[in-house]
Amino acid sequence: MTDLTRTESRSEFIAGVTEAWSDLRVERDAYPWRQTRDPWFTLIAEFMLAQTQVARVPSHFVAMTKRFPTPRSCADASQAEVVALWVGLGYNRRAVALHRCARMICDRFGGRVPSDLGQLRELPGVGPYIARAIRAFAFGEQTGVVDVNIKRVLVRALVGHEAPPKALQALADELVGPRLPREWNLSLMDFGSLVCRARAPRCSECPLFRQSCAWRRDERHAGLELPDPAGRALSAGPRQSVFVGSDRQGRGRIVRRACHGPIGQEELAVAAGWPDEPERAEKVAAKLVVEGVLRRTRTGSYQLA
Ligand code: ADE
Repeated sequence: MTDLTRTESRSEFIAGVTEAWSDLRVERDAYPWRQTRDPWFTLIAEFMLAQTQVARVPSHFVAMTKRFPTPRSCADASQAEVVALWVGLGYNRRAVALHRCARMICDRFGGRVPSDLGQLRELPGVGPYIARAIRAFAFGEQTGVVDVNIKRVLVRALVGHEAPPKALQALADELVGPRLPREWNLSLMDFGSLVCRARAPRCSECPLFRQSCAWRRDERHAGLELPDPAGRALSAGPRQSVFVGSDRQGRGRIVRRACHGPIGQEELAVAAGWPDEPERAEKVAAKLVVEGVLRRTRTGSYQLA
């Protein structure tokens, strides 16, 4: 057992998170990916939810799962079709990885998403978080899912100081224990995004604040305001780089335009929304080629790969 926390703090922590979640879950349970335990749909959801605001995901999730109800249906489709369904979510590389996942699932795992952690990690774009999310949410495996929200909750409320990722993963795994892994991990995730928020945590409404929160308890003992143990990385909220005028915006426009057919070299700057910056448009398109989203035709046009 990790010695990051005392046993009695853990039971208070579990009781507090569970209490808070019973008030929160109704709204969050309505997300379409929470209505399913299909491993392939879970994989699609987690790919979409990574780095994208949750409000943008439901309609894309519904369209993608309708068109590709199985890994086989996706593997048999063109990558361009997956990218086209991805438009609006940003980070198109993830659409490319999703299509490659479907092909690998069919080639290597008989068309079924594996439940084994090592096999999941072999899939393109599947890191430690997504692999564990699939295990816990789809397969009900007893594993801790550590995303940024959960990390922040553990550090603030239970540990009280920064801790290395491996130690936090071990702690999360221990906390799952005999509880329902899916429900427990979702409750921690929601508690982190709605109560123990990055900025402006709602401590006055938090059951842990009254009882046991490591950060606030120590603060009360010390009689002064202690710095947030989650540090800047976990408490500053998602980095909101300015979108308008960014390369990301130009990339999005190019991919969106490419869904309607090849873009001639002379049209590229206009397609990117930068008529006076052809070099910038070329640079961004070249990157999309390297990432496997676009390909260059012999005549120099760009089209979906
Ligand atoms: N439900 C399952 N995974 C989720 C995630 N990453 N974000 C929000 N809700 C989720």
